[in-house]
Amino acid sequence: SVSEPKSSFLPRSRPWSVAVIGAGAMGRGIAQVAAQAGMSVRLHDAVAGRAAEAVIAIRAEMEKRAAAGKLSREVCDAACTSLASVEELSDLADRNLVVEAVVEDLEVKRGLFRALEAVVSVDCMLATNTSSLLVTSIARGCAHPERVGGVHFFNPVPAMKIAEVIAGARTGPATVEALRAFVADIGHAPIVAADTPGFLINHAGRGLYTEGVRIVAEGIAAPHDVDAVMQEAAGFRMGPFQLFDLTGLDVSYPVLSRIYREFFEEPRFRPAPLLRRQVEAGLFGRKVGEGFYRYADGRPVPGA
Ligand code: NAI
Repeated sequence: SVSEPKSSFLPRSRPWSVAVIGAGAMGRGIAQVAAQAGMSVRLHDAVAGRAAEAVIAIRAEMEKRAAAGKLSREVCDAACTSLASVEELSDLADRNLVVEAVVEDLEVKRGLFRALEAVVSVDCMLATNTSSLLVTSIARGCAHPERVGGVHFFNPVPAMKIAEVIAGARTGPATVEALRAFVADIGHAPIVAADTPGFLINHAGRGLYTEGVRIVAEGIAAPHDVDAVMQEAAGFRMGPFQLFDLTGLDVSYPVLSRIYREFFEEPRFRPAPLLRRQVEAGLFGRKVGEGFYRYADGRPVPGA
């Protein structure tokens, strides 16, 4: 038989029935915004009980927002009802979109997508929230790479109302269009970017952060001065060191290192040794109480 041309792939889309895999920081956020947008959402995690725990936490978060007047009572009630956890991948057979937010490990993601292809129907899209792996690499080994694409959200997902939509080398145009529609239906702004290391944000952003760290490493200015200039003069919401502390260097340093390697060690992406030293010292940022700044009860200590 003659195989169908790639462009003939037509994903099922609205009404969205979404599976979110990985009930960590990102998976929880994605599940929450999708449920708030009126979509049916099933959350799954490899660790038994974790998805169920996450659903309880997301419902509590939405109740809190409703009580504070940030979410209408109707939306909150509907979202609480349309969100549920599942313990088995095989419970996701009826979904038309899977968004994967599991650990940043190529083999784990590849294995997951292969397992999913055995569960979902052929018109279900598979999206990855990877921040530093190529969508093309994740799709390799899939029987239908044309239905695999990237949707890269930012942390915290409900507050960061933008997501990158990534077309891998074999992603079908219909998949890109449908993923773009999904992001828009959630109420976020979709930005389409090419499948290159770091996509758009971690590529463009690295210039700023890499240079910011160099300025400090070379003794030109202190972290709080760089942050102040970027906020007050350049209009950024946060300076590079505030953002490093918020994200956690344990998360961002491996991403930086991977992007540098994937660009074949291009000097402009080279992370500064200062960052490595911070990592070795366990100065990850806000989550441990100290990074480039010191924190007490999660708030920066003035002057520290
Ligand atoms: P996390 O570590 O908080 O959560 C990952 C979850 O995935 C855990 O609950 C783990 O049990 C589960 N998991 C691992 N392997 C699994 C499998 N095979 N099947 C089902 N569940 C599995 O991670 P986080 O921070 O939520 O990141 C998830 C993904 O999102 C990563 O690819 C990361 O690069 C990406 N990302 C993270 C951002 C961040 O700021 N944290 C921002 C944008 C993307």
